[in-house]
Amino acid sequence: MKGLILSGGKGTRLRPLTYTGAKQLVPVANKPILWYSVASLVAAGITDIGIVVSPETGGEIEAKTGKGDRFGARLTYILQPSPSGLAHAVKTARSFLQDEAFAMYLGDNLIQDGLGDFIQTFQTKALDALILLKSVPNPSAFGVAEVDNQGRVLHLVEKPVLPPSNLALVGVYLFSPQIHTAINHIHPSARGELEITDAIQQLIDTDQTVEAQILNGWWLDTGKKDDLLEANRLILDEYLGASAISGTVDDQSQISGRVTLGSGSTLVNCTIRGPVIIGHHCRLENCFVGAYSSIGDDVTLTDIEIDHSVVLQGARIEGIRQRIVDSLIGQRARLTTAPLRPRALRFLIGDDSQIELT
Ligand code: G1P
Repeated sequence: MKGLILSGGKGTRLRPLTYTGAKQLVPVANKPILWYSVASLVAAGITDIGIVVSPETGGEIEAKTGKGDRFGARLTYILQPSPSGLAHAVKTARSFLQDEAFAMYLGDNLIQDGLGDFIQTFQTKALDALILLKSVPNPSAFGVAEVDNQGRVLHLVEKPVLPPSNLALVGVYLFSPQIHTAINHIHPSARGELEITDAIQQLIDTDQTVEAQILNGWWLDTGKKDDLLEANRLILDEYLGASAISGTVDDQSQISGRVTLGSGSTLVNCTIRGPVIIGHHCRLENCFVGAYSSIGDDVTLTDIEIDHSVVLQGARIEGIRQRIVDSLIGQRARLTTAPLRPRALRFLIGDDSQIELT
């Protein structure tokens, strides 16, 4: 079985971060989101993996992710010239996939469950498609399935105004090569894309075997800030091991809970309450860092309190007197304040940024 990770798309919901980089490289617990999907496929025994990328961000994704050695996989990058839909991405990967079954993973999705059981069901029952579903409060934002009580899928519809159920299609799918024939029979949707949802509906319409399983564990589509913070919380909870301190910590600093501190990083008079990950070559002085925070490499934090936030590489935050919460701070961003009571706020903020003084 092969793996296919779709890592194109524009990432409009994560602007401004995605003006300068791919949404799949935005880090969760200091690791690109995309890498979790590669690891999940490898854990299920799938090591021959294609990654579909866009011309805008493909080079960056390939440079950062590499050929697969770090995962024990072989990664092949496949260029999708235009963002013409998930089924179009499969079409683009046709020669890589050949006539093998494959597991497809959307590169901005994260699921808690391993893929092993799903693959076993798919293979034992010789299905043409196994889809994963999760009940959500806002099904109109997703592909939605109607399922009978034996798990057979009756009907699928992409982003319905009037959803037939609250079961959303999770961005992880298992397909037999029949999907290629189905894709050849579908037409672009109202949003101008070849939808994988329509291709699966085509399988159903031509009496191929399509089943669904309900996902028990969590599922996150990390396309937006709050989803990303939630993913960061869940990943820190689940994967951050016992404390690992490689940097320097002075006597005035206190560390509690699970905390990772990268090499070359320094803590001076700080309180860190895990789970927290701090990257390499950071300097933190007179700071409180609360649970579920991820601080990237080369970050400087001075005289601040921060909680439940993600700070990306090279950012510098100094002297902000209010506690910073639920925040996502981009690479090399600067937040500083006058030493005495500031009398004005002066901003240079990227397009689509959001600032809330609460
Ligand atoms: C895509 C699929 C949709 C699925 C979702 C999961 O939506 O088209 O069926 O529910 O991924 O993340 P998109 O992210 O393209 O809006």
